[in-house]
Amino acid sequence: CGIVAYVGHREAHDVIIKGLKRLEYRGYDSAGIALLNGGLNVYKKKGKVSELEEYVKGIELSSTIGIGHTRWATHGEPNDINAHPHYSHSKNLAIIHNGIIENYSSLKQELLNKGHEFHSETDSEVFIHFIEDIQVNNNCSLDEAVRLALTKVVGAYAIVIMSKDNPDQLIAARKGSPLVIGVGKDEFFLASDATPIIEYTNEVVYLNEHEIAVIDGGELKIKNTQDVPLTPYIQTLDMELEAIEKGGYEHFMLKEIFEQPKSISDCMRGRLDANAGRLVLGGIREYANKLVNADRIVIVACGTSWHAGLVAEYFFEEFCRIPVEVEYASEFRYRNPIINEGDVVIAISQSGETADTLAAIELAKSKGAIIFGVCNVVGSSIARTSHEGAYTHAGPEIGVASTKAFTAQLTVLNMIALRVAHKKGTISERRYHELLVELENIPTKVEKALKLEPIIKEIAELFKDARNFLYLGRGFNFPVALEGALKLKEISYIHAEGYPAAEMKHGPIALIDEEMPVVFIATRDSSYDKVVSNIQEVKARKGKVIAVVTEGDVLIPKMAEFVIEVPKTDEALMPMVSVIPLQLLSYHIAVLRGCNVDQPRNLAKSVTVE
Ligand code: G6P
Repeated sequence: CGIVAYVGHREAHDVIIKGLKRLEYRGYDSAGIALLNGGLNVYKKKGKVSELEEYVKGIELSSTIGIGHTRWATHGEPNDINAHPHYSHSKNLAIIHNGIIENYSSLKQELLNKGHEFHSETDSEVFIHFIEDIQVNNNCSLDEAVRLALTKVVGAYAIVIMSKDNPDQLIAARKGSPLVIGVGKDEFFLASDATPIIEYTNEVVYLNEHEIAVIDGGELKIKNTQDVPLTPYIQTLDMELEAIEKGGYEHFMLKEIFEQPKSISDCMRGRLDANAGRLVLGGIREYANKLVNADRIVIVACGTSWHAGLVAEYFFEEFCRIPVEVEYASEFRYRNPIINEGDVVIAISQSGETADTLAAIELAKSKGAIIFGVCNVVGSSIARTSHEGAYTHAGPEIGVASTKAFTAQLTVLNMIALRVAHKKGTISERRYHELLVELENIPTKVEKALKLEPIIKEIAELFKDARNFLYLGRGFNFPVALEGALKLKEISYIHAEGYPAAEMKHGPIALIDEEMPVVFIATRDSSYDKVVSNIQEVKARKGKVIAVVTEGDVLIPKMAEFVIEVPKTDEALMPMVSVIPLQLLSYHIAVLRGCNVDQPRNLAKSVTVE
């Protein structure tokens, strides 16, 4: 979910609606806004923020304080009633909440016994009733009631509360879900991330875990849940407004796909200079030796970031000779994993807020592991919970389907592995240099791969009505097959499976007939000949082969119906290039099918619930 709140001298609804649109990538099944204008008024609507905007047209909304929310449903189906903000029992308070209250049903029962009535099925409505109940029972200030409530609720939250009785006050708190406060001149902006804020101010305070912010009468005060006052740490954000706008592209996803030559360069800037033989990662210093001396590395991540982890596994094992396990964060977290003091864990996350990944590293940390974070969002929870790490510096990624974050993650992970291998002496000087040079050339190769768009569009046209797709690859290209299939599923709703090409014969081959498009990632590498045999196996069963091959390949074009030729690079770095046509293919198929590319159904970019 995404939350936005404002207090100051502007029209709050303008700031909030605009901000919610920027946060829509975090969820878009319903939206709502609460304002103080002649009372506490809440307006909410199922669907996108634009539907809320339409709904409030013509209504008098003038107010200089307000809170707003765009939802990704957890408790209760997406409808007008379950949308946020929610009211307290007396209707004096309103809340927006991102997260989950795990003990909400026992709290709800307690409140029901006291005669509270609930209108929605959400945990958030229970939360605000609970706060009010505490305030009434203790006859205390609202911020004290919030603090006491927070010591009793179990779960994750970022909340903002507004009260009918105090038109200058907003109270916010966080645990497990992010919250940023923009500090302007006599005005404050609160949001799940900085994107709704930067057009007004670049001075921000990131609220930390277990902190409560009280904005009252133009002043910001912060304390923790133990009631200890804290000094707000104001940071200056380095983010341009244009980085979060579409810049002439039809969709964010397309813009982000085309940004990759730049985002990969940005990721290497100041870190890699192949000529000088220089590779430095400023964020990994004190604990660098832990990586070099690690007996094994555990990588935890979700979704596309997990795929980046799989590529990294091949890379680390090949060059550093360190065994690597790549885990879905959610599985790792709940199966009593074996982690010992000093073990090394790498957490990969674009948003840096994925609840499963965060919980996994907290667990590993509690067992004494050293955590390295590979995050895109600066200052995010995972980045801050990690001991050390390296940012991907890909710039804001807004399209829900991850593209530039993936290639930037690979860039960072490759750089980390190369540093470790070089220090350990598990890579020859010659090979090390070759890879540094090749890594530096990747942006140019990605640029060339992007020129394949017209051919890919034609292929998309021919296969847009397929019901299933198979994606096959081996070695470094196996995770690329998984990623290609995930991209297609996410945004075009076509069922797709990624598989190791050789493993196909142990099951998925049964699916192949003349209706089945099979995408092979078959670039020239050590398993090329084997992949060629796998292509033959598909052909023999009349499958339609679309092959991503290395430029100049003469063999595969004789077998495949369609070939997409990508520039040659080292096999270990090929995923950064071979994934490009797959991103474009899924994009164009989704567009042709009339799907909402940037906001696919049921998904959210940043999943802050476990
Ligand atoms: C969500 C998104 C995916 C993303 C995954 C992990 O499910 O829809 O695209 O890969 O979360 O996100 P993270 O921010 O941790 O990389």
